[in-house]
Amino acid sequence: MAQETADKTPLTLLGLGAMGTALARAWLAAGHPLTVWNRTPARAEALAAEGATVARSAAEAVAANSLVVVCLLDDASVTATLADTDLAGRDLVDLTTGTPAQARARAEWARERGARYLDGGIMAVPPMVGVPEAGGYVFYSGSKELFERHRETLGVPVGTTYVGEDAGFAALHDIALLSAMYGMFAGIAHAFALIRKEDIDPASLAPLLTGWLTAMAAPSVHQTADQLRTGDYTTNVVSNLAMQVAGVPNFVGTAEQQGVSTELLSPYFALMRRRLAEGSGDEDLTGVVDLLVR
Ligand SMILES: NC(=O)c1ccc[n+]([C@@H]2O[C@H](COP(=O)([O-])OP(=O)(O)OC[C@H]3O[C@@H](n4cnc5c(N)ncnc54)[C@H](OP(=O)(O)O)[C@@H]3O)[C@@H](O)[C@H]2O)c1
Repeated sequence: MAQETADKTPLTLLGLGAMGTALARAWLAAGHPLTVWNRTPARAEALAAEGATVARSAAEAVAANSLVVVCLLDDASVTATLADTDLAGRDLVDLTTGTPAQARARAEWARERGARYLDGGIMAVPPMVGVPEAGGYVFYSGSKELFERHRETLGVPVGTTYVGEDAGFAALHDIALLSAMYGMFAGIAHAFALIRKEDIDPASLAPLLTGWLTAMAAPSVHQTADQLRTGDYTTNVVSNLAMQVAGVPNFVGTAEQQGVSTELLSPYFALMRRRLAEGSGDEDLTGVVDLLVR
């Protein structure tokens, strides 16, 4: 049941894919007057039944409200969609995933067209949208004033985290977190591969893996951050680099014995070895960060 709409900011949403549709439903459920547009019109039909106004073109949708949110596949689809719209005086919020360079270029592109700009990076999947306890949020960067003006409306579908005036910072934070996630996925894939040919139920490994990754994540992340800030990678070390490099043959040997490729882990081990050769065995693994930065 939609809430009262009188005091709710009206807005336009361009893009009704899986994510755009979830965002639209959250704004409608909270009582925000919403104008929507999607390249394939059929995707807007269900939302019309839920109270959305369906625009016949992107230009008509942009003209309907001063707050315009876009959530499209990629940066090229944003260019294509906004090509024939008049953005003068609009507050444009782009939730499309992209690179920091694309976000900075889009901010400049919007400024040239007389629009104010905020870039967003969504840290949620569609089922988390409109479910506050799921913990999803969007990184925002760009105009702080614009963020403050629309903070309440933008915070309806998921939480908001503002990360700076540099329009590229939301994308940078988004990609940093997702990159760490893929590293974790790589480790998980390797762990399951190790037991694949054995009489071990993957379901029995699952809780052990989640428990171990959860226990390791927070201490490791905070320790790395603290050491990078101070520049001293030997503070509070509990598992030093020399000991960890000495243990590498255990990982390589076990993988070989289990018939598992080391292609996911080997690059990391190579960096650990290089750091040991160049640095101190008393360090943590933090020195690997510096080896990655070119
Ligand atoms: N889904 C997730 O789990 C998730 C999580 C975080 C962030 N995101 C980000 O949210 C954004 C949208 O994701 P999604 O899951 O909604 O994707 P999706 O379901 O694939 O929907 C893509 C949307 O982009 C539109 N589109 C694609 N190319 C277009 C073009 N050339 N011109 C105009 N419209 C075009 C599609 O329109 P049609 O309907 O006409 O094809 C559709 O509305 C992406 O940047 C994605 O990275 C998604």
